This record gives sequence, C-alpha cells and structure tokens, in this order.
Amino acid sequence: MESRIEEHQLSDREFKCICDLVYNDAGIVLTESKREMVYRRLMRRTRELKISSFSEYCGLINTPDSEELPHFINAITTNLTSFFREPHHFDYLRDQFIPQHLKAFRSDSKLRIWSSACSTGEEPYTLAITVKQAMASYLRKWDVRILATDLDTNVLKTAAQGIYEYDGIKDLSDEVKRDGFNKGIGNCEGLVKVKTSLADLISFKQLNLLRAWPMKGPFDAILCRNVLIYFDKDTQLGLLKRFVEILRPGGVIILGHSESVAKSFPGLNSIGRTIYQKVCTYH
Ligand SMILES: C[S@@+](CC[C@H](N)C(=O)[O-])C[C@H]1O[C@@H](n2cnc3c(N)ncnc32)[C@H](O)[C@@H]1O
Repeated sequence: MESRIEEHQLSDREFKCICDLVYNDAGIVLTESKREMVYRRLMRRTRELKISSFSEYCGLINTPDSEELPHFINAITTNLTSFFREPHHFDYLRDQFIPQHLKAFRSDSKLRIWSSACSTGEEPYTLAITVKQAMASYLRKWDVRILATDLDTNVLKTAAQGIYEYDGIKDLSDEVKRDGFNKGIGNCEGLVKVKTSLADLISFKQLNLLRAWPMKGPFDAILCRNVLIYFDKDTQLGLLKRFVEILRPGGVIILGHSESVAKSFPGLNSIGRTIYQKVCTYH
C-alpha cells in the first residue's frame, strides 16, 4: 500500500485544488516552489488516512464542512518559532514600551498584548517572561493578559501544554531558565515546563486571522511576526488595517524580520526595526 502511495504523483490539477483551498481558507499563497513541501506533508497525511491517491484526498477536503479540512490546513502551515526569536523586539518591550505604558496607564492598570500567530507558544511565553522582567512588582495589582492565537489546532495543543525540549531553552540566560521553567525529572528528563505564574498570564485560542475576530480590544501591543509573508499584498494590507483598528492610539504592532509596512500606510509610524506605532489623534 505504502509503496503505491509513494509512486503516486501530485498532478497539476490536484496541486491547484490544494493551492486554491489553502488560499481560500487560510490566505496562504502556495507557489510552484512549495510543491515538494506540499507533496511531502500531504503524503504523510494520506498515509495516516490510508488513502491511495491525491485525487481521493482532494475529494475529501473539497466538500462543504469537510472534517479533514482543519487537518489539511494544520499539515500545510509552517510553524517555525523559538524562544526570544528576534530578541530586539522583547528588548524594546521590556526597556521602552512597558515602562512608558506603566507611567501612562497608571489609573487603568491594564496591559493587553496579542500574539496573533503564536505557533507552538514560544512567542507568547517569551512575552510573559518579558512582562515579568519589566513589571514583576506591578503584576499583583495590574490586570495583565496575553492573548495567543493561531489557526493551527495542533500547535495550539503544544502551546497550551507549555512543555518543550531542554534544547529549545539551552541558550537562554540562567536567570530566565530558573525563573521561567521547571526541569523534568524521571520520564520527563530532557524536557522543561513553563512555570504556572507565566502560563497564567496567557489565554490560548484558535483564530483564523482572515475571519472575524471575536475580541473587542483595544490591544496595547500586537505581535504579528512571520505570518504576513505567507499572504498576498491585498491580504496583508487588509490585515494591517484591522490591526490598526484594534490597537489603542500609541499602541504598537510588531512584525517579523522580513515583513514591513509601507511608509504611506495610514495610521502607523515606524519606530524601530519592524516596530510600528499607531498614531495618536487629538480631539
Ligand atoms: C512561522 S510561524 C510564526 C510563529 C511566531 N509568530 C514567530 O515569529 O516565531 C507562522 C504561524 O502562522 C500561523 N498562520 C498561518 N496562517 C494563519 C492564519 N490565516 N490565521 C492565523 N494564523 C495563521 C501558522 O499556523 C503558524 O503557526
């Protein structure tokens, strides 16, 4: 059976069906250069389902209310992430943004951050570590919440568990390792678990950025890092517009290293490396 699947070709028609579905559902643009990746990932999925052809698989995902569709999307998404990825963003939040926020919003005593494509959780947990570093003594009195969302239900399960290979944190400072993680022992040797005091700051939810957002906001800071690159220009611009709407004036949106906002984009000023601030308006 397996060798028959191995031999099976992904035809142009099937590849197009897959590209159209991923674009319509998740906004992700797949080009010819991704064909090999798509083949490998879906081959795995067809093996799990004991399906012998891609045309059969396309039939399965191309029906209204297909139960396979979320699994298909999970298989296609790229979830690469790490703790303190692009560390200058967290330096900025810890040393500039949060101290300024603490002064300006003393009476509200509220901080809302959204990690909008959180993958397996390293980004929101890094945010929680950063928040703790910047405002540990305020945390009891302040209402601090980090919302962490992703389209992919598999990565969200890992994120909510907060359990990682020690390798993923080995390069972090001793202080962060000590304050942020408990080391596994016995069966869990080689693993670490994020401390409850950090995990308690975060709510994990499934959310497709392209669909309606159930939350009202406003957010003080939004991270949308290394996901815009998978979308086309129109989708990127539409999303940026919605991010601006849900940010408070003076709030920031932080993008990934290869993503940017055009100078002419209304409502945002560049204030650092892929950091943009919503302009303040006065009445
Ligand atoms: C490369 S990871 C980036 C993770 C993290 N932000 C970082 O920079 O390390 C991209 C994530 O975007 C998610 N994603 C892709 N399309 C999405 C969509 N339409 N809505 C929400 N998340 C999406 C993927 O599931 C994946 O976990």
